[in-house]
Amino acid sequence: MAKLFTPLKLRDVEIRNRIFIAPMCQYSCEDQDGVVNDWHQVHYISRSVGGAGMIIVEATAVTPEGRITPWCAGVWGEEHVVAWKKITEGIAKYGAKSAIQLAHAGRKASTHRGFDGKRGMVSAADGGWQSISPTSEAFEGYADPRELETSEIYELIEQFKNAAERSVRAGFDAIEIHAAHGYLIHEFLSPLTNQRSDEFGGSLEKRARILLEICKAIRSVIPTGMPLMIRFSATDYSEGGWDLEQTQQVAKWCVEEGVDLFDISSGGLITGVTIPSGPGYQVPLAIGVGEVIDQPVAAVGQITTSAQSEKILASGYVDVIAIARASLRDPYWPLRAAAELGVEIDYWPDQYTRGKWPTTP
Ligand SMILES: Cc1cc2nc3c(=O)[nH]c(=O)nc-3n(C[C@H](O)[C@H](O)[C@H](O)COP(=O)(O)O)c2cc1C
Repeated sequence: MAKLFTPLKLRDVEIRNRIFIAPMCQYSCEDQDGVVNDWHQVHYISRSVGGAGMIIVEATAVTPEGRITPWCAGVWGEEHVVAWKKITEGIAKYGAKSAIQLAHAGRKASTHRGFDGKRGMVSAADGGWQSISPTSEAFEGYADPRELETSEIYELIEQFKNAAERSVRAGFDAIEIHAAHGYLIHEFLSPLTNQRSDEFGGSLEKRARILLEICKAIRSVIPTGMPLMIRFSATDYSEGGWDLEQTQQVAKWCVEEGVDLFDISSGGLITGVTIPSGPGYQVPLAIGVGEVIDQPVAAVGQITTSAQSEKILASGYVDVIAIARASLRDPYWPLRAAAELGVEIDYWPDQYTRGKWPTTP
């Protein structure tokens, strides 16, 4: 039996295989209100039909200012609960589990969406806003953020907690905290963007404090049986920045706060660094985290084939394969992988049976 198709249990949630659809912003809330719509519904439900084990929906902002772009999804109000519920019900109907990636974009908020062909910040006149961050220093090419007051950090923790409570009511099976890619939580973690002198800056323990407090707050409002996951950038690829060693230590602290899975990405905090791009380029980082904790670890990044996935799982330190862009080309990537690996799955859609053996007459 291919390891990719062995089930995985996280707390009370049984996941049918080891293929997760990685979170991917759709930038498609056209009314700029964070409310997901028909596009998101078709997009996510197709990937459940396509056989994924778990679908982690896009970075979903806990406040309006936490969106990356004005078109990003949110979960800061009741209208968001109603809209997401239709999607989680559809995902569940076709057998995948759903997770929401709770996010705040920090100093990388209020930007254009790439597919409009524009770069940089959206002006206030066009619906943009002042970004906030642990630092007042801008991400290269973006506007200066406003440095957060200490009291506002406590409010942010509450906002993550309230968003988690709404996510439970929206029907999600799991929650992922977005602590990667240079967004707000990563900005707190990294010494390059956190030179604060209050209780949220300085030592590793203090830089990690917002994340640990968010984990604690979320755990207090979600069911005991619900998995909590974290996406980290395991390195800034820069001397003096966030690195694998700090990720390993903070992951251990997160386990104590009830985190069940670590989804390991990299980079995104600063520009001008060299990222060793190539097939599975972030897998060594995932293995590095897997080596020091017992909880499952997900690898992501240029993983495109079933054979490559099997090889990564054979390391023994990676438990889940997260697929992003390959699933934009092929929503049925897991079905294809099952056929390639010769695995019989009982969730191949009846309507698509004829596609299983395409070479028979
Ligand atoms: C269109 C698009 C949107 C993305 N949005 C998110 C996001 O919302 N949250 C996140 O953590 N990563 C996001 N990512 C990164 C992916 O989850 C993934 O880590 C990255 O694309 C590398 O995996 P891949 O090589 O399989 O595409 C996005 C990537 C793409 C292509």
